[in-house]
Amino acid sequence: MPHKHSSLRIAAFASGRGSNFSAIVDAIESGELKSTAVGVISNNPDSGVIEFAESKEIPYAVINKNRYPDESELNNKILDTLDEWNANFIVLAGYMKKIDPSIVRKYKNRILNIHPALLPSFGGNKMYGLKVHESVLNSGVKYSGVTVHIVTDEYDKGPIVLQQVVPVYDDDTAEILQKRILKEEHTIYKEAIRLFEEDLVVVLGQRVVRKRENAED
Ligand code: GRF
Repeated sequence: MPHKHSSLRIAAFASGRGSNFSAIVDAIESGELKSTAVGVISNNPDSGVIEFAESKEIPYAVINKNRYPDESELNNKILDTLDEWNANFIVLAGYMKKIDPSIVRKYKNRILNIHPALLPSFGGNKMYGLKVHESVLNSGVKYSGVTVHIVTDEYDKGPIVLQQVVPVYDDDTAEILQKRILKEEHTIYKEAIRLFEEDLVVVLGQRVVRKRENAED
């Protein structure tokens, strides 16, 4: 049975440099992904990701506590912006804020996050940036990696979509390991998005599994 192609209207949430978002945009431009990047939401007006969106003429919105001190107003602004862009899928790409439960509810199983380690290890609140890789090195594990997962109300706990293992070498520093992992992030994120574009997976409790080839949907 032919797969249903649902081209996604992707909104990205990002706070920093935005290399993951730019890898996704590259994949869209090259035709590897069929989706559209409809906009970027950032809490950080000075972020690389905003500069990148500007250069690509992708709409963006800066939504943060300075501009919206009231939390429910802030969340409503995010929801309204997503509606304005007709977004039906969200990717978190280095977004440093927690996603409000109202957004998680509205986009149930439609929000992905990427984490630079093999969850459920080395995740959770405050585990970001170099801290992740320092913890990995301190723990002595021989493999780290990348996890793309669905966002739920608990940090880094949602169903895992894809993982990629990355070796840890004896002479690694956190910076070197971070770089090796980031490279894999740029590949795995688009692969994860493609699974949703082509409607190839289903969420069963904590597991994300491939739909059976002959299953009716
Ligand atoms: C990545 O390491 C990602 O795994 C984490 O935040 C970082 C974002 O990097 N969630 P970039 O802004 O996409 O370059």
